[in-house]
Amino acid sequence: MKSTYRIAVIGGDGIGPEVTRHAVQVADAAVSRSGNQLDWTHFPWGTDYYFEHGQMAPVDFLDQLAEFDSILLGAVGHPKVQDHLTLNGLLLPIRRRFDQCVCLRPAYLFEGVESPLRNKAPGSIDMLVFRENTEGEYANVGGRVYQHTDHDVAIQTSVFTRRGCERIIRAAFEQGVTRPRRRVASITKSNAQGYGMVLWDEVFAAVAAEYPQVQTESLLVDRAVMEFVRRPESFDVVVASNLFGDILTDLSAIIVGSMGLAASGNLDPTRRHPSLFEPVHGSAPDIAGQGIANPLAAILSAGMMLGHLGLETAAALIHSAVAELLRNSGPRTPDLGGTATTEQVGRAVRELVR
Ligand code: NAD
Ligand code: IPM
Ligand code: MN
Repeated sequence: MKSTYRIAVIGGDGIGPEVTRHAVQVADAAVSRSGNQLDWTHFPWGTDYYFEHGQMAPVDFLDQLAEFDSILLGAVGHPKVQDHLTLNGLLLPIRRRFDQCVCLRPAYLFEGVESPLRNKAPGSIDMLVFRENTEGEYANVGGRVYQHTDHDVAIQTSVFTRRGCERIIRAAFEQGVTRPRRRVASITKSNAQGYGMVLWDEVFAAVAAEYPQVQTESLLVDRAVMEFVRRPESFDVVVASNLFGDILTDLSAIIVGSMGLAASGNLDPTRRHPSLFEPVHGSAPDIAGQGIANPLAAILSAGMMLGHLGLETAAALIHSAVAELLRNSGPRTPDLGGTATTEQVGRAVRELVR
């Protein structure tokens, strides 16, 4: 049966709108081949909206978004406004309200892309990071008192719950068990964080015991960053807390070539709420407005969105178009050593999809 899917688009700030535009066009091209349809609603929310209205989005923005099948986001963040205000005014509340507890971030070394690490063969780095996305270090619990005095106090509390740890760790194992290598690595810091991270380790051990066919390891996060560089090929599925997953996925992005290739999905596995798809990268103020941002991370994120909506053929079309472009030395933006513009890369992917 042919279907129409309602998608909310928030281009956001900096390069966000520049790359999202191409993700929308490529997704349209891919989906139209199957006879289905995407119905896009664009929201002008972000820091420009903030400059005009004093807030990042209307007060009822979460209710508005709740009506959609999915959300596609560019990036949020502007050099003239403190990031905690912009991000806590738009992106982070979406992840929490829609219970998007799984942040899925694949890192794959495409053929035709050079890793900054020496002698890495195409496909040799192939990992899936499962980042907890609703609690942990991002719980937004804390406060400030005696601000701007010598007694200034800031408390920022991490929140680890058994339910929160279990659902992300279980999601990682459910994926891990279907992958050929069947490996899951847990990232911890229980040597220093004696409460939250110890609970994390306990839950990891308990869930691991239910999957005897999966090979596991537990790494302290400091060791893990070292191993991501020393032996990235050994990682298959990686599961990490909110902050550790955030940090590790800039690293996993760059070892497979560029921030401009790293896609992500913020998923509500229960599907009660819309999931949100976005590149791992931010608004990149250093290159915004120059027309040279790599749109591939946004395009691949749109592909993940289509897969989540059940449009598997369209999702696969996008993935293979990007792989083909990279393999056959198609146009590439400066982050990948090329001289092409965002527009040229976006158009090339579109043509391959058609
Ligand atoms: P960033 O990801 O925006 O940029 C890091 C580096 O990677 C920069 O040199 C940038 O030019 C480059 N880069 C990123 N995306 C690229 C692309 N598509 N093509 C080519 N090069 C690309 O990280 P940052 O500089 O730490 O953050 C900038 C702003 O974005 C901050 O306000 C931050 O809070 C915000 N941010 C938002 C999100 C999000 O909305 N999900 C994610 C990360 C950062
Ligand atoms: C990401 C970003 C966000 C995060 C920021 C902008 C709050 O870095 O999606 O990786 O830390 O989750
Ligand atoms: Mn990040």
